[in-house]
Amino acid sequence: MAVDWRAGLAALALIAAPARAVALPVIPLPQVVQTVDGAAGAALGDGTPIVVPRGDREAADVAQWLDAAVRDHLGRHFVRDGAARDGAIRLRRVPGLGAEAYRLDIDSHGATIAATTRQGLFYGATTLWQLLAAKGDAPLAAVHIEDAPRYPWRGLLLDSARHVQSVATIERLIDVMALHKLNRLQWHLTDDQGWRLQIRAYPRLTAIGGWRLDPYGQRYGGFYSQDEVRQVVAYAAARNVTIVPEIEMPGHALAALRAYPDWGFAGVPASAQSDWGVFPSIFAVDPPTLKALETVLDEVMALFPSHTIAIGGDEAQHGQWRAAPAVQARMKALDLPDEAALQGWFTAQIAGYLAAHGRQAIGWDDMLSAGGIPRDAAILSWHSAHDATRALQAGHDVVLATDPVFYFDHIQAAVPDAPPGRWAVVSPSDVYRVEPGQVDGTGGGHLLGVQGELWSEYLRTDAQMLAMAWPRAAALAELGWTQPARRDWDGFAARLPDEYRLLDRWQVPLAPGLRGQRVEPVALRGVKTSQILVSCSNRLLLNLPARDGHPLLVDIMDRCWKTYAELGHGPITVQIAALAFNYQLADDAKAIVLRAPAGTQDELVVRQDRCDGPELARVALGAVPHDGVPVALRVPLAGDPKGAHWLCLYTATHGPAPLWAIDRLVLP
Ligand code: ACM
Repeated sequence: MAVDWRAGLAALALIAAPARAVALPVIPLPQVVQTVDGAAGAALGDGTPIVVPRGDREAADVAQWLDAAVRDHLGRHFVRDGAARDGAIRLRRVPGLGAEAYRLDIDSHGATIAATTRQGLFYGATTLWQLLAAKGDAPLAAVHIEDAPRYPWRGLLLDSARHVQSVATIERLIDVMALHKLNRLQWHLTDDQGWRLQIRAYPRLTAIGGWRLDPYGQRYGGFYSQDEVRQVVAYAAARNVTIVPEIEMPGHALAALRAYPDWGFAGVPASAQSDWGVFPSIFAVDPPTLKALETVLDEVMALFPSHTIAIGGDEAQHGQWRAAPAVQARMKALDLPDEAALQGWFTAQIAGYLAAHGRQAIGWDDMLSAGGIPRDAAILSWHSAHDATRALQAGHDVVLATDPVFYFDHIQAAVPDAPPGRWAVVSPSDVYRVEPGQVDGTGGGHLLGVQGELWSEYLRTDAQMLAMAWPRAAALAELGWTQPARRDWDGFAARLPDEYRLLDRWQVPLAPGLRGQRVEPVALRGVKTSQILVSCSNRLLLNLPARDGHPLLVDIMDRCWKTYAELGHGPITVQIAALAFNYQLADDAKAIVLRAPAGTQDELVVRQDRCDGPELARVALGAVPHDGVPVALRVPLAGDPKGAHWLCLYTATHGPAPLWAIDRLVLP
């Protein structure tokens, strides 16, 4: 949480060499596009046959996808298994192209997709779909395309632990990923706040660990049955997306430990189950716990054919290991110097178990500090580009998943109606301007590719999750696919209108502020929402959901707002909510500004000009219920100042909770 996002951006941002704007309305941009002046193109309308090689089941599956995608999202009706004729779409197998490579030729005889693999045929079909979508009913221009990816791993992470998404929404996410040639979905299925994967050997993982009380006392949860998981895995596979399951260990284990306390240590406060942050809870390292985790992984491997299985490894807190005599004894017996080395040993056991079953472990870059990680384990680098380089130099394969620029829980544009999320803006162009090749290390490791993270603490609804993903995931897709010499922001931006139409066609909502809208100038009069107030100290700004889900912008470390206001006669109205304070901040909690509590209850203070300027009002907050629902307070100002003034509004409190958040300000 303490990451300096601007430093992170600066470390990664390198604008790709400028290239000419390319008109082809396809994301990611293909590597080679040749047009022939004056050559006639193809009209692919209703009745166009899609022709596949006889007996080629995989090609027939791709044809079925293309037929359905064109029918359901473009309203056009092709004919499958049609007889070959001039003007047809042909899928052809050719030897010698790469694993995901394809060629697409469009001319007066129709369209021909040629590839060696099913994946290549599928990607040719997605390019053709995008061209058809962009052209409307007009004929496609003649073109020759040769295409293949820059990196093999082009991923998103979906956090279904903090909030659960429907299977239909996950399939919709996969649909749109596939259209952009994204091919990995890391499915974050377990964390402190929930265990979402049915495990037959341990039913309490979902029966207990799948449910929590939210900060307002409502039961929240759910999980995916093994049948649903098989459905999602097959749906994704048909679209060239591999689902990489993630089972967090040894930290982020609270939900599992609420279900099976024997796998950990005493001392987890039950009331913390809906907190965000980093918890002290950690798995034990005794043989029965390791055996249980291996049994979980047995079921995971049976469900997910992915070669790579994610095992977490981030933010493990070692305090419970330090305090447990049995763990200390085991550390000594294993001749390990400290708890970090013990985590390395633990990870090696789990990675070794996966390797023995023909699978590869991948985990967050925190694992590296421990040492002892097998070289064939892959690393998800999130702390910085430097950590990616370090991992590559140590010989690991690396996926670049850097916070904040690839953390898609940041808002995309700072507009008053931005959805909930981390308030530091990560715009589509911030994502696009990363050059992954910059982090190439010199060790034996390979940069596998890039991944965007949909952490869902604040992505409470399926629509909010989708709106945070796109179009940043499209920018990420182009980083992962297109060679840097072909990439330039202006060329990408010119293709965004077609991208927005694509998202519309697949019913993906678009976050406010992206279609070229500008933030309105701050209104001096009338109603001001929290998003256009100014934070006093910008410590940790979050756009947090109120009880009904609409977002309030608050600095959780310092509940203090400033605004330049044109005041008329009479009291101002401050609409304020007492949100739950559900954060595990460890030592950072001491740094929360309480603002010198004096009275016996929390107060709202209004000062003029500066936060230590003349006091205009001091209002007790005792009557505001602690339920996350905003309440309107009439606040008369001393001396009834009129005209334009800076106002500073802050709460004076005794502790971090409740989290006072101004929803809106109504000026007289
Ligand atoms: C992480 O953000 N803890 C991987």
